[in-house]
Amino acid sequence: MRIAICPGSFDPITNGHLDIIRRAAKLFDHVEVAVLQNSSKKCVFSVEERVEMIRDGIAELPNVSASSFDGLLVDYAKKKGATAIVKGLRAVSDFDYEFQMALFNKEINAEVETIFLTTSPEHMYLSSSVVREMAAHGGDTSRFVPACVKERIVAKYRQGVTQ
Ligand code: PNS
Repeated sequence: MRIAICPGSFDPITNGHLDIIRRAAKLFDHVEVAVLQNSSKKCVFSVEERVEMIRDGIAELPNVSASSFDGLLVDYAKKKGATAIVKGLRAVSDFDYEFQMALFNKEINAEVETIFLTTSPEHMYLSSSVVREMAAHGGDTSRFVPACVKERIVAKYRQGVTQ
């Protein structure tokens, strides 16, 4: 069984992430979407909220599941029996950081390959941070995230989150 990990912060998951996950699900028998806990990044949504939103978003994908992890990504990949890490690349600006991560991960565990999928053109501009920015200014995020995520974003920003 070929298992891949799609790791990230997913604060929140966007249609761009879901596009990469759907495409990875066609390439692998199973895809585990993994949310990093205890990131140095300050997130708007809790780890539990982010995993729940991902589960809503992947509901129609039978070979995809979601969880969270702490520690090194390659260790989590090994624990899950994954042989690949799948990441989306939007632009050249993503490349430096992702390339370094891929090399670093390969150095720690050469059994796990990093595979990059290029973004679909319609998602090139899309990121969790622009979605948060839009939501913070009362914008309509429905084109950029699944409906269930949009509802949660609206509820979260109604509580007065400033980020
Ligand atoms: O969505 P993000 O924030 O770009 O995701 C980054 C993530 C979670 C993939 C990355 O920070 C990660 O894998 N962290 C786990 C710790 C780790 O393994 N670090 C080693 C690589 S430098």
